[in-house]
Amino acid sequence: MKVFERAEDLLHIHSDLGSQQLAFIPTMGALHQGHLSLVRAAQAKGHKTIVSIFVNPLQFNNSEDLLKYPRTLQADLKLLDDQGVDWVFTPNIDEMYPASIADVEVDLGLLEDRFEGAFRPGHFHGVVQVVYRLFKYVNPSEVFFGQKDLQQCLVIEQLIEQVFPHIKMHRVQTMREDSGLAMSSRNVRLSPESLLKAAEISKSLKDIATRKEEFCEAIDLHSQRLAAIGIEVEYLNCVSLPWMDALECDHFTKEPNPSNGHQNAVIFAGSLNGVRLIDNWVF
Ligand code: PAF
Repeated sequence: MKVFERAEDLLHIHSDLGSQQLAFIPTMGALHQGHLSLVRAAQAKGHKTIVSIFVNPLQFNNSEDLLKYPRTLQADLKLLDDQGVDWVFTPNIDEMYPASIADVEVDLGLLEDRFEGAFRPGHFHGVVQVVYRLFKYVNPSEVFFGQKDLQQCLVIEQLIEQVFPHIKMHRVQTMREDSGLAMSSRNVRLSPESLLKAAEISKSLKDIATRKEEFCEAIDLHSQRLAAIGIEVEYLNCVSLPWMDALECDHFTKEPNPSNGHQNAVIFAGSLNGVRLIDNWVF
């Protein structure tokens, strides 16, 4: 496994690919099995893999969250090496935001300001700018993102459609602990007791997704249930993809239909003892 800090070193990668495709997995480090499942999904397709590790200040609207974000570079590199990753890109801030690269304009429609966009103003602007630069530097043919960050996946799909139509996007299913808790770099900040409580979130999402016509009642019930164990709910909604329009309570109009790609999702964000958690259940 080779580790590069400079974008210009990435140019050599393409001549070492042979007949294989280059699959890219962008990360902010603090890697766990969820990240490795993205690598494995790319390797299963026979691709060479490159992972980036860069904690992007532009996407943190809360400076404390940025400060507390776990940084575990040596352990991350070991995990990636053991997983057989071919290249790792670990740029610094000057490499990622040189004066020579102007911001990209991407029309995110309503995705920019609802749910994560509303609770984390400027977040998706930051995500789009860093991923735009990473895609330009790495020039991958396929990219792999975790479905746990569902709204981020939808945003990246817009970036790809509007700026990088040649890139193939893969949304990879969320990896969960045995308890059902979605794996996340932030979970290390939860105590054993909080981990048990946080596991209740996925149970709520799964239950709401099965309720069809009664999903609004189920949302109320589960919001109260989660609040009662100390989880501060920011949002808990049933939406249709890809624009995250909230489904109407009185008529469940948007039946999921996998044959035409139509999907719904129950989405959640909240916090527990100061740790922000998100999760979703796509159906
Ligand atoms: O999902 C993440 O880890 C980050 O948002 C990403 C895509 C690496 C951009 O900084």
